[in-house]
Amino acid sequence: MKKDISNRADVELLVNSFYNKVREDELISFFFSEIVAVDWEKHLPVMYDFWDNILFYAGKYEGNPMAKHRDIHQKCPMKMEHFQRWIHLFTETVDELFEGNTSELAKQRATSIATVMQIKMFS
Ligand code: HEM
Repeated sequence: MKKDISNRADVELLVNSFYNKVREDELISFFFSEIVAVDWEKHLPVMYDFWDNILFYAGKYEGNPMAKHRDIHQKCPMKMEHFQRWIHLFTETVDELFEGNTSELAKQRATSIATVMQIKMFS
């Protein structure tokens, strides 16, 4: 039986594993290399804080993801297939590493944030 996502170290493992997949993905990796030249040493800690905040209310993330993704969308339209792949990779990563209530919450929150992003972006 796998463990649940329980602490900051688990969040870091999840985020690192997810972005390893993203960076190798033929459909969406270019957003992170060509559209935005992501500085991974800076981006990964931001994502640890983002997920720590969502899952454990750790309260350290203060960014504005909607504004960031709107900028990306203006440079290169983010389509439904991109969001579907993002969600697929995120869900797959959670399921490979963890199971339990917080793991389910992570997948639900990712899906609902992706849905809101798409609604805002495509409207
Ligand atoms: C097709 C789907 C997506 C693509 C291609 C994408 C791409 C990106 C890229 C390229 C960045 C880096 C921006 C920068 O450093 O300037 C970024 C940042 C970020 N993304 Fe996404 N993203 C997607 C979906 C999502 C979803 C669904 C979530 C939330 C569940 C999310 C959460 C974030 C957050 C929190 C940041 C950091 C923003 C900040 O710097 O404060 N992304 N994304």
